Amino acid sequence: MKKVHIKSYGCQMNVYDGQRMADVLGQEGYVETATPDDADLILLNTCHIRERAAHKVYTELGKLRDLKRERKAQGRETTLVVAGCVAQAEGAEIQRRQPAVDLVIGPQTYHRLPELLAQAKSGRVVDTDLPPEDKFDHLPAPKLAAIVARGVSAFVTVQEGCDKFCAFCVVPYTRGAEFSRPVAQVIAEVERLAQAGVQDVSLLGQNVNAYHGDGPDGRVWTLARLMRRIAEVPGIARIRYTTSHPRDMDEDLIALHRDLPQAMPFLHLPVQAGSDRILAAMNRKHTGDEYRRLIDKIRAARPDIALSSDFIVGFPGESDADFEETLRLIADVRFASAYSFKYSPRPGTPAAELSEQVPPTVMDERLYRLQALVEQHRQEFNHAMVGRTVEILIERNGRHSGQLAGKTPYMQAVQIESAAHRIGDRVMVQIERAGSNSLFGRAVEQPGLAA
Ligand code: 5AD
Ligand code: SF4
Repeated sequence: MKKVHIKSYGCQMNVYDGQRMADVLGQEGYVETATPDDADLILLNTCHIRERAAHKVYTELGKLRDLKRERKAQGRETTLVVAGCVAQAEGAEIQRRQPAVDLVIGPQTYHRLPELLAQAKSGRVVDTDLPPEDKFDHLPAPKLAAIVARGVSAFVTVQEGCDKFCAFCVVPYTRGAEFSRPVAQVIAEVERLAQAGVQDVSLLGQNVNAYHGDGPDGRVWTLARLMRRIAEVPGIARIRYTTSHPRDMDEDLIALHRDLPQAMPFLHLPVQAGSDRILAAMNRKHTGDEYRRLIDKIRAARPDIALSSDFIVGFPGESDADFEETLRLIADVRFASAYSFKYSPRPGTPAAELSEQVPPTVMDERLYRLQALVEQHRQEFNHAMVGRTVEILIERNGRHSGQLAGKTPYMQAVQIESAAHRIGDRVMVQIERAGSNSLFGRAVEQPGLAA
């Protein structure tokens, strides 16, 4: 039996792509292995969003070259594949820097993996086309057993690429123009997931709320319409979507957070910065106050919604006063969680050409202050849960026996002690305590009674 080890970096879309590549390779007789040591095929599914991400890949490739040599000395061949956004952005450069790599494959050609692997046997191969044809048409449906093994929560990519061209971002270049999967294809995939016991789906896209897929009625469907349809699939109890752009948050989608029980009260809506001058330089197409007004609208529809964001500190030209505006926006919105990054120039993006780069020490200090403030709000959000009773979807066994781990509708991790429940149960839990990364609670009802 041939073994494949897939290591995904970066965003959830890469996790999803990694699973689909495992499905393709499954058809070729490969089974997945958790370690590279016993793998005949090692596939790094890379991320190019920030400098260190690409750097990590080259470091990892150095180690894998050594592993490949060791295995070779034992008479075993290892095929080394680099996929994902670094593959797309760097192309043949990867094999120049690391000749042990057999195949470089961009995110739009994963359905061609078997054919490209065959070609790679007789020489190194690079395929980073961004073909207009739909790779999703050619990817095999995952086997039910594979879905079951992946658990009760699943990702479904519904949209790829981005047309927004934020000045710092490499995505429009690595993933190409916005593309939405047709509604029927998404529904078929969700139905299959549901048949295998999936209850919680996260719809993925680089700019997912710009979704505009062909509907079965011959019209273009929005994300809100797609979500309403997904909610009709028997067994689907929870729907989330990520990542959204503030400009594409339409009224219908906002209303869904009030009207559709399956729409989870959680929204990742990156704002990146708080200063209007920096937002304009970033080409974000909205001001700080426009974002605040949007949040007000969303909270009017769903007052308890957990909001999450991404922030970049040290965008070229960001002054102390600009940064204070970011802190002011954070204080106004009070996010339940957020990711934050130091600006990293990405080759080929407009911001990389700007001269006023912010010194690293200034970035460090700003990042530290920003994260401290976000962390304070995150803890407050989590502590406010204590005493409340919420529905938990049990996703896995906890660290100790008798312990189960799941998520609240707000995406918080919860641990409960219960011998009566199992993975896949949705159970009402009273939250008793908030730890730094997890909530702890007790089931307040017997199995079988949950909605
Ligand atoms: N430098 C730092 N952070 C970046 N991001 C995207 N590009 C860059 C960059 N060049 C961050 C943004 C985005 C998240 C996925 O990564 O905050 O929302
Ligand atoms: Fe990048 Fe997101 Fe901006 Fe698109 S909307 S360019 S993916 S940061």
